[in-house]
Amino acid sequence: MGLKQIDYGTPEYMQMVKLRYNILRQPLGLGFSPEELEQEKDDILIAAFDDDEMLGCCMLVPIDNNTLRVRQMAVNNNLQGKGIGASIMSFAENLARDKGYRNLIMHARDTAIGFYEKFGYHVISDTFREVNLPHHVMEKRL
Ligand SMILES: CC(C)(COP(=O)(O)OP(=O)(O)OC[C@H]1O[C@@H](n2cnc3c(N)ncnc32)[C@H](O)[C@@H]1OP(=O)(O)O)[C@@H](O)C(=O)NCCC(=O)NCCS
Repeated sequence: MGLKQIDYGTPEYMQMVKLRYNILRQPLGLGFSPEELEQEKDDILIAAFDDDEMLGCCMLVPIDNNTLRVRQMAVNNNLQGKGIGASIMSFAENLARDKGYRNLIMHARDTAIGFYEKFGYHVISDTFREVNLPHHVMEKRL
């Protein structure tokens, strides 16, 4: 498996949108609007590959000079639980550190809170709903 940053608007980006749709949106009966995808052009896009197959992905969205928000963390259904998500988190954290950021936050689905806690993230908000699911904001100082 290899991890790398990918570029907005490329065939790899389209692969990423498809993976995110399959794992994060389609099960909820939701999709992506062109406006939503347009807003991703300045984000840091990360994906794990096995040859040409994309195994998982996430995005880092700049919030301010110190903080990035992790979004759209997803691993292909048949590959979950094999350490791919952990590798993506570790790659994302190293990239964030290299770029000088000090904090990572995310809007974690409640079902994924245990995953982020494994990497030292803490819940810092009350519950709220996003994409019709309960979420909490989580944070980690790098
Ligand atoms: C959540 C997700 C990204 C985790 O990736 P993964 O490749 O399955 O996770 P890993 O195999 O790397 O797991 C790393 C550790 O976290 C644990 N873990 C994984 N998913 C977990 C979860 N949902 N809740 C609690 N712990 C979890 C694993 O047991 C493992 O623990 P260990 O190191 O003690 O063995 C992946 O399961 C996924 O895509 N889920 C569906 C989409 C989703 O919920 N995304 C997050 C939106 S906020």
